[in-house]
Amino acid sequence: MKQFISSLKDWSQKLLDTNLVEAQAEEILAAIHERLVEMTGVTAATSPQDYIRDTSLEFGNAICTNEAAKCILDTWRTVKFLRGTYGAIRHCQSKNPSEKIQLLYAGCGPHALFLTLLAPMFEEGEIGFTLLEVNPASFQIAQRLVRQLGLEGYMDSIHLEDAIRYRVPNSKQFHILFSETMDKALCNEAFVPILLNLRPQLGDDVTVIPANVVVGATLFPRIKRADGLYPQAADFKGVKGHSLGVVLDLASKLKENGSWGLTVPVKGLSKFRHLAFNTEVSIWGDIVLEQWESHITMPKIEAISASPTDRQIQFEYPLERALGIRISTS
Ligand SMILES: C[S@@+](CC[C@H](N)C(=O)[O-])C[C@H]1O[C@@H](n2cnc3c(N)ncnc32)[C@H](O)[C@@H]1O
Repeated sequence: MKQFISSLKDWSQKLLDTNLVEAQAEEILAAIHERLVEMTGVTAATSPQDYIRDTSLEFGNAICTNEAAKCILDTWRTVKFLRGTYGAIRHCQSKNPSEKIQLLYAGCGPHALFLTLLAPMFEEGEIGFTLLEVNPASFQIAQRLVRQLGLEGYMDSIHLEDAIRYRVPNSKQFHILFSETMDKALCNEAFVPILLNLRPQLGDDVTVIPANVVVGATLFPRIKRADGLYPQAADFKGVKGHSLGVVLDLASKLKENGSWGLTVPVKGLSKFRHLAFNTEVSIWGDIVLEQWESHITMPKIEAISASPTDRQIQFEYPLERALGIRISTS
């Protein structure tokens, strides 16, 4: 196992190098994924039913074990979250010399991926993770894997808990709150309710990763595909639409404690048939996951059908079972 941890350290350090090209990053992440999958059996064709079932939460869903394990292969997502979190840890160390940097990791998935990638680059005692995972299979696998890897010295504790409701004991101890529990345009997964629950429990100085998520919207007239199918995100690449600017800035929404709504007047609204939500994730410092770079930042396409008398479009993000930005016209 020592050999694998030494390779992990080497790979993670290479991933931090900003000169790395996409193909090299892909190769490294595929090698890490292959080895982790060998150890845990997740994503094997014979996986049990509970590896392929999402968990339905009070707000949104938690993705299943197999899909969570595959997130590593979303190259720029993994690389940029790794670079941002590494930078944030070093920054916290420089602000708090001689303190152990404590991370609250909400939604660790079956491979506790960011503990697995980061821990080998630090000495034990320099950083400690508290892991939360709501999916029982992912929780058990992560707990076992961290021990198998011999990285338990970096894991202060792990809890089978829903981060939307979790009460944080010793909340002042945390320097960093980390959660990659999001989908495009903040739909489906529970990042917003998780932040609404955890952020106010932590000290004012806590660093949140990702730092912000901003969603813009663009209107398009009908886009026709030769095969007659409903257009997909790729059909909108390079097509100039009518930009409505930013419609959701999460950091500002959180200051309003979650309630948020926006009305935008639009001339000739009824001529538009599609709306694309564009997501950008600011991870830490100037590290940003840009549009098209990741599954999370692919455009989310919605159909709209406004009547000729409609003059404006409303956006809302209600905290409901099905999470996402709601659109209506009037
Ligand atoms: C997108 S995956 C990411 C997995 C891993 N952290 C990574 O980045 O590769 C999100 C993980 O968060 C978990 N999760 C989602 N919502 C959660 C919640 N409310 N409480 C705890 N865990 C949650 C899911 O079960 C899943 O394992």
